[in-house]
Amino acid sequence: MLNRLRIVATVGLLGTALLACAQTRITLDLTKPGHRVSPMLYGLMTEEINHSYDGGLYAELIQNRAFKDGNRTAPIPHWQGIEDTEISLDRDRPVNKNLAVSLKMAGKGRLAVSNDGYWGIPIRPSTKYRASFYVRGSSIIDVTLESNDGKTVYARGGVVGFEDWHKAEFTLTTSADAPVTSDARFVIRTAGTTWLSLVSLFPPTTNDRRNGSRPDLLNLLKDMKPSFLRFPGGNYLEGNTFKERFDWKRTLGMLEDRPGHMAPWSYRSSDGLGLLDYMNWIEDMNAKPVLAVFAGYVLNGDVVKSGTELTGFVQDALDEIEYLTGSANTKWGAVRAESGHPKPFEFEYVEIGNEDGFDRTGSYEGRFVQFYDAIKKKYPKMKVISTTGGKDGLGLPYPIKMRMPDLVDEHYYSSTWNMMAMADKYDSYDRSGPKIFVGEWAAQDVPAPWQNPADKGPTPNLNCALADAAFMTGMERNSDLVEMSCYAPLLVNVNPGGRQWAVNLIGYDGLTSFGSPSYYAQKMFMESLGDWTVLSSASGLPTQNNGDKTIPALFYVATRDSKSGMVYLKVVNPQAAVQSVDFSIKGAKNVLPDGAVVQLAGGSLKDMNTLAEPKKVSPREMEISGLSPNFTMSFPALSVTVVKIRTQ
Ligand code: AHR
Repeated sequence: MLNRLRIVATVGLLGTALLACAQTRITLDLTKPGHRVSPMLYGLMTEEINHSYDGGLYAELIQNRAFKDGNRTAPIPHWQGIEDTEISLDRDRPVNKNLAVSLKMAGKGRLAVSNDGYWGIPIRPSTKYRASFYVRGSSIIDVTLESNDGKTVYARGGVVGFEDWHKAEFTLTTSADAPVTSDARFVIRTAGTTWLSLVSLFPPTTNDRRNGSRPDLLNLLKDMKPSFLRFPGGNYLEGNTFKERFDWKRTLGMLEDRPGHMAPWSYRSSDGLGLLDYMNWIEDMNAKPVLAVFAGYVLNGDVVKSGTELTGFVQDALDEIEYLTGSANTKWGAVRAESGHPKPFEFEYVEIGNEDGFDRTGSYEGRFVQFYDAIKKKYPKMKVISTTGGKDGLGLPYPIKMRMPDLVDEHYYSSTWNMMAMADKYDSYDRSGPKIFVGEWAAQDVPAPWQNPADKGPTPNLNCALADAAFMTGMERNSDLVEMSCYAPLLVNVNPGGRQWAVNLIGYDGLTSFGSPSYYAQKMFMESLGDWTVLSSASGLPTQNNGDKTIPALFYVATRDSKSGMVYLKVVNPQAAVQSVDFSIKGAKNVLPDGAVVQLAGGSLKDMNTLAEPKKVSPREMEISGLSPNFTMSFPALSVTVVKIRTQ
């Protein structure tokens, strides 16, 4: 009795009221293990959407750095001639074929041009920025980071230009008294007519990598401890047309050699974040790659027929795998080694295309077989993922009949109610077929997230987070079948016009970033995961009804770490009232009285995190005592809780 009171008192602190008596009983049965938890269960999915890379994780600060956007004369997006400076795009004497356009500055006397970055250039005091550009034509060039009104200079540097193209590289260091602000621009001043190309500016990056990533965003991702990164898409893999697909060979090497391409989410990708940069990012997170290869279907509906027409694309995928996994003695492994990564990457999963159920011509089966056979022949251990054949209803009239994929990728974007209703989805799934990869999923409070209504998002509120967590209990309980899962989309630049999708996991502007309540719910699930599921049963589970269907009003799952004996019990209470549960643990020699709780809770379903309040809804951690084989615990209204129970 004493133990029980101590537990109720400790955990109930976070709640608003305690139930008088426990009606719900959950038994955790440790007499025998459940099934092995897939070590790949929780990962991340990414693509260029919502300025995820350009204007996001990829730390470049100059927008339209290679002048690929815009016509011959001003306005040239993101570039402005200052005072009487005339700017135009010039195709004469290009730096190379990938930098076919340069910016010409002309006029009388001193000339100046500015770039406004991605919603401003982020300034911080005493910070070193790496700047570079190609220049020809003027001998003395003054470069500043300055306030948008030009009145305050935060950093200044100077370089010399020559008659012919020359790459200037230098650092700009802000003064110690510089403010933290995005109300700033990058300015180049010259003494006469000048041409510029590939203008670049990087703040400090993760591990000080050149061409690297934003540390705050990388750290948010790494903190989740993802087991993998699914990349490069998503629709970004496919492109609207063949020319606009993710063509990995055109994303390698020096920035000067990357032409960039129009991406499907309404803006151009610089391809600054190229294939090897993805791999550096994955290494920086200690995760593994799940590579999606282009499979001959593009978003305008065009397809490459299987057979000889497809051979080149299949070879491209084989080359890509060799680029990543081959030794420096292989053709493509050597290219990687030359770029500074001699060690091959470890790599086990390859996905053939993306959402090919939308290909109404029915060509996927033939295309899949061709890729599958070629990949399995050269890389027999590679697990091959199909994008059709799942039960997600993405226009899938034909299952994969001719080859059994190792996994099928299912995508679920659904209402919060449906997501909670789907928590038991995998309990009764056919286990004789392939494993499941839930390669995109999210609970959303919008009917069609691609319509991107201004009054919703840009990140999930607590309502979404509760439904996300409920759905995760189901994936975790069935992680013998659900081998992998990843939420989408991952990143959003929250500046006006930054996003194309309504609800996204992590938000940011140029200076700061924040995880949404769903981010924290996922992080809690990802960092508290045993290697075996715990068999469990429940009685008296509360229910909820939407007028059409009755579903549980409390969701739970438990896993156990076989080495330490730690049981991770996860409980989701989506209700507006505290719920009290009696637990009994069967089959443990000992249940240690001291444990810990991590809890995410909020006052309203609408609660969100924002740039201004980045941790409004974020987890609290507490030590608890009084655990025993039988204990009672109260779960606050609108909460996700992980209870860490030490068992022997
Ligand atoms: O996550 C946004 C988009 O949703 C992905 O690009 C696509 O695969 C899905 O339809």
